[in-house]
Amino acid sequence: MITNTELEHKGNQFPSYITNYSKDVDTLYFTAKNGVVLQITIVRDSVLRFRYATTGKFDNDFSYAITKYASRGYNKLEVTEEKEHFLITTSKLICKVGKDHMHIQLYDAIDGNLINEDEIGFHWEESYKYGGNIVKMSKVSHKTESYYGLGDKPVQASLKGRRFENWATDSYAFGKETDPIYKAIPFYTAIHENKSYGIFFDNSFRTHFDFANERRNVTSFWADGGEMNYYFIYGPQMQDVVANYTDLTGKPHHLPPLWALGFHQCKWSYYPESNVKEVTKTFRDLKIPCDAIYLDIDYMDGFRCFTWDKDHFPDPKRMVKELKEDGFKTVVIIDPGIKIDHEYSVFNEALDKDYFCKRADGPYMKGKVWPGECYFPDYTRPEVRDWWSGLFKELIEDVGVSGVWNDMNEPAVMEVPNKTFPDDVRHDYDGNPCSHRKAHNIYGMQMARATYQGLKKYCYPKRPFVITRSAYSGTQRYTSSWFGDNVATWEHLWIANVQAQRMAMSGFSFAGSDIGGFAEQPQGELFARWIQLGVFHSFCRVHSSGDHGDQEPWVFGDDITDIVRKFVELRYQLLPYLYTAFYKYADEGIPILKSLVLYDQEDIHTHYRSDEFVYGDHILVCPILEPNTKGRRMYIPRGQWYNFWTDEVVEGGKEMWVDADIDSVPLFVKEGAVIPKYPVQQYVGEKEFDEITLDIYYKKGKENSTLYDDAHDGLDYKKGRYSLRSFKVTGKSNELILQQHKEGKFDAKYTDFNLVFHNLPFSITSIQVDNVEIPMEKLKVNGKNSITINKEFNELHLFGK
Ligand code: GLC
Repeated sequence: MITNTELEHKGNQFPSYITNYSKDVDTLYFTAKNGVVLQITIVRDSVLRFRYATTGKFDNDFSYAITKYASRGYNKLEVTEEKEHFLITTSKLICKVGKDHMHIQLYDAIDGNLINEDEIGFHWEESYKYGGNIVKMSKVSHKTESYYGLGDKPVQASLKGRRFENWATDSYAFGKETDPIYKAIPFYTAIHENKSYGIFFDNSFRTHFDFANERRNVTSFWADGGEMNYYFIYGPQMQDVVANYTDLTGKPHHLPPLWALGFHQCKWSYYPESNVKEVTKTFRDLKIPCDAIYLDIDYMDGFRCFTWDKDHFPDPKRMVKELKEDGFKTVVIIDPGIKIDHEYSVFNEALDKDYFCKRADGPYMKGKVWPGECYFPDYTRPEVRDWWSGLFKELIEDVGVSGVWNDMNEPAVMEVPNKTFPDDVRHDYDGNPCSHRKAHNIYGMQMARATYQGLKKYCYPKRPFVITRSAYSGTQRYTSSWFGDNVATWEHLWIANVQAQRMAMSGFSFAGSDIGGFAEQPQGELFARWIQLGVFHSFCRVHSSGDHGDQEPWVFGDDITDIVRKFVELRYQLLPYLYTAFYKYADEGIPILKSLVLYDQEDIHTHYRSDEFVYGDHILVCPILEPNTKGRRMYIPRGQWYNFWTDEVVEGGKEMWVDADIDSVPLFVKEGAVIPKYPVQQYVGEKEFDEITLDIYYKKGKENSTLYDDAHDGLDYKKGRYSLRSFKVTGKSNELILQQHKEGKFDAKYTDFNLVFHNLPFSITSIQVDNVEIPMEKLKVNGKNSITINKEFNELHLFGK
């Protein structure tokens, strides 16, 4: 029983004794004497869905989170009835359903160890005020169990001992510990005795999670309405738990165009056109790579979405074209609030078609946002999403805008105490009419989805690029995201780091912070340190509210400009590495950022680390989070790592001091890694090059790496026009073998690899590529062993003594 909630009006009710059991293919039904029904669906051998009905009848089974592309099917399903319980056995899990009170216990099917068990289990309270139930679940929390995930919570990695709420909230200048903020992602992972599992509570009402906070040995979650409906996802590796959750709620429908992984510059607001051009020109003059420039609300005519302020932007189409010729893609903001203005066609059309949200008794939902009083489309109606997507035709097809940024979609309302719609606002919820209590957390997601559909239609055959502030589980299918209105403080740099890792662990890898801080202005040092972190986030954008001064990379003096350039250049060099990590995320659901606990859960030291993370498969990053430092202590995960800057090899599994003056950041590469690098470009596609670099870090033993590539935009990759190369390094004391396996029909324009070998323990005496001896003169030794060979090689041998 969850006691310190304000909900305890009518006491708790519990399922009674199971009197009936039936099975329908993959779904089992257990009915208790008091009419409670437990439905268990075997989604996969390692994924079970639990759903409870207290009235004997389930709601219509509808979820915005679960994708129709989710994998289903299992290898084994056996159900047996014993005296005290039922036993459900798959190839990965054994689930015991106690006959008394429907208590659940979950065991690893292979070693028989307990993974997770109900404490009180399912119980509920009737909601006197709204009808229906407040549905609750409580589980035993073990002493050594730890918890992670839950979307954008700005707290340290481990969630144990805390309580959280999911209610998407506009949170200007939020702080460490502020809860809730912009997103609602009711999914957490846990580790208990080296086994990881996850729980996804798919309920879009306001949800609550208590990780052994109220009672030391209990973890519970509950919702202010709807059904107790959760998925239990078993690993035992946390990486598999996250991949399975991402499979269930969806991987990105498209890879981003490669330019979207470049550097982006934003401000509230760049206007008029001359100001935009001045900024983009300075990037090129100072040779700081940049791919996207953003227009915030002031590009519009009186903040009316889908209009332009013609005084400031007399010819948007020409401007966007000129920017594109200089390598800049234009991204514009679009908010949900539609200004009440009978002269404004978007407003008139939506009014005519009855597309705006209404209050329970019939009036329109009226609220103040940037344009003044607005009405708001009900994106939970398919025809409204269709209409909304159509509004992008001109912006995308005609004006040539490349991306759209959705903001204020929690939805945010100004000058009201609850910052959003009142509870009674009605929504269609795709044919499941409901109040805002149920639709609030998915409103932003459905807006971003409708925007995505518009872009997809009108930028075809190019790839859509959308950004959203609010999100529910599954939003990662359509869009990238940023973390909202942070502040230019050191504490917020820390927050940006934990948020990016947490989002990746919650299935949402395409995300980043407002680099430098949105509110207030950073000192140059803080800006540089933030850039040094931001270049390792998949979404990498500087944004700030203009009223606190400028925040372009060059406003902090030449020293800082040089540092920013150095790190943005590094990002551009590592683009093929990031693109490969993104591909793995979109293909297999593997998070791009790996918190240390997700990287190596067997090592208990990783369980409480928040700062360090692994970027992609092989690069370890630890940001500097304090001023006036020349380095820091950090934890190096087990194994051998190369210091990226010096090539010094360190043995992990311990904490150590790492030097990192203002122009550096602690960065390590896993031994055996093959790291692909492009030449520096000012924007994606600026240059055509003949070769790319592969940095090969010697390892005694074996290590695998991958390199994904395709046309960097367009949809041909979905038809097999991609290239996937796997590299296997095998190092011996006087030999190094590099094997390549190729897949896919895409052929990149470059012909060669420039192989750079790091830290060979021998001097090279001969080189063989596909059994042909290569003359030693081809080996350039400018401090490093490096050789250029055709990219289609299969096997390279370096022999030495
Ligand atoms: C919100 C957004 C911010 C944006 C501003 C003006 O505060 O979070 O990114 O710049 O609105 O549109």
